[in-house]
Order: sequence, then structure tokens, then C-alpha cells
Amino acid sequence: MKRTKWLMFLAVFALVVAACGYSDTSSNTTAAPSDGGGDVGGAAHGQELFKSTCTGCHGQNAEGIDGLGTDMHDNEFIQSQSNADLIVFIAVGRSTTDPDNTTGVDMPPKGGNSSLTDSDLADIVDYLRTLQ
Ligand code: HEC
Repeated sequence: MKRTKWLMFLAVFALVVAACGYSDTSSNTTAAPSDGGGDVGGAAHGQELFKSTCTGCHGQNAEGIDGLGTDMHDNEFIQSQSNADLIVFIAVGRSTTDPDNTTGVDMPPKGGNSSLTDSDLADIVDYLRTLQ
């Protein structure tokens, strides 16, 4: 009798542990695809933002426009920067008073679109990486 009760207790205990283990696993598996999906969508979202904010100077396909923005393909400056550095660069821009300015034309902070968030800039950087 005593032994059966003990076994029942063990069985219930095992069920509880299994249930907790199961819910942990399921919450992990739901988190992973949504994170991954965000990254995959990043470059596409970045391209949309680029088209609405940056193409006026850098061209429809980021090929650059003479006398305005530079070509973003195979761009040595972009290749030399980390993602975090590029986000800061785009946020700050590079005015004509900056000794590093190469064109004598202003690159305005956030391309002149102050509504862009850090996460938007990160998506734009993801897009720029597809051009290198
Ligand atoms: C008003 C015109 C203008 C707009 C709008 C603009 N840029 Fe620029 N951008 C420039 C110019 C000019 C330069 C080159 C600055 C220099 O002479 O060093 C530049 C340089 C850059 C560079 C450095 C690459 C290089 O060749 O020096 C990056 C990266 C860049 N822009 C990204 C962007 C992004 C992303 C956007 C949109 C959010 C944007 N720009 C919008 C004018 C613009």
C-alpha cells in the first residue's frame, strides 16, 4: 500500500517535470523563428527605406549620382566599417566641414530623414551589405 502511494507520487512528479520541460521547449521554439524572421526581413525593409530616403542623392539602385551621393556598390568605406560604425555614420552624416569629406557635398544626418530609428538604420546597413 505504502509503496503504491510512493509510486503514484513519483508518477505525478514526473508528469509535472515533463510538463514544465515541454512548455520551456515550446517557448524556445516559438522565439527562434520570430528572431530569425526579423533578420531576414531586415535587408528588404532597409531597401524600402533606402528608396524613400537615400535615392535622391545615391541613385535608385545605389549607383551614385554625379555631384550628389556616392556609389554604394563595392564601396571601400562601407567595407571598412563594422555594422555599428555604419549606423553611427549614417546617423551623423559627413558634412563638407568634415576633413574626411571626399566630394565637397553634404551627407546629411540620417539622409535628412530624422524619423529613421536605430533599428531602421540597422536594416539599411543590412541592405548596403548586399551591395558589397
Ligand atoms: C542630400 C544628399 C544625400 C542623401 C539624401 C544621402 N546621402 Fe549619403 N552621402 C552623400 C554624400 C555627398 C556622400 C559623400 C560624402 C563625402 O564627400 O565624403 C555620402 C556618403 C555616404 C556614405 C559613405 C560612403 C562613401 O562613399 O563615402 C554612406 C554609407 C551613405 N552616404 C549612406 C546614406 C544613406 C544610408 C542614406 C539614406 C538614409 C543617405 N546616405 C542619404 C549624400 C547624401
